[in-house]
Amino acid sequence: MVLVILIGMMGAGKTTVGREYARRHRMRFVDCDHEIEARTGVKVPTIFEIEGEAGFRRRETQVIDDLTRETDLVLATGGGAVLDPGNRAMMSERGIVVYLNVPTQVLWERTRHDRNRPLLQVPNPRERIENLYRERDPLYRAVADIVVDGGRGNPGGMVRLIERAI
Ligand code: S3P
Repeated sequence: MVLVILIGMMGAGKTTVGREYARRHRMRFVDCDHEIEARTGVKVPTIFEIEGEAGFRRRETQVIDDLTRETDLVLATGGGAVLDPGNRAMMSERGIVVYLNVPTQVLWERTRHDRNRPLLQVPNPRERIENLYRERDPLYRAVADIVVDGGRGNPGGMVRLIERAI
């Protein structure tokens, strides 16, 4: 009866790694952003447009609160889920929290052509990633039970590192 919660930056591979871990362990997999989209019927950028980041964060907290009550579940959170102290408390109390730590160069390569991440639709997204990483890395580490260093971020390798640590 286990709840595994993946945290980390945009592009760290939370969805890919989480889905693979869940498949191998016959657990259910849910991605927070997909759950928010399923509940609202619109994409994340549209929520940001209509309700602003604050509105999105409220929805994110609700989804985290609902889903962290489950077990036999792998939950991939959005990169900003750790910003809220209440979210951090729920995550660390209810599940095994795994931080996927990937170098910012890799995060940038993976997200540079992505139009679905509103926080990166800025004139200098490369710098934005650096700043977000600097701000969030301590929060990820504070809430994590396990830190998996991804290097160039081979998802299969990260799954095995999580298996070894849990
Ligand atoms: C965000 C990350 C996104 C999504 C939203 C905000 C963030 O999720 O929740 O665009 O603040 O880092 P991913 O980490 O799955 O890209």
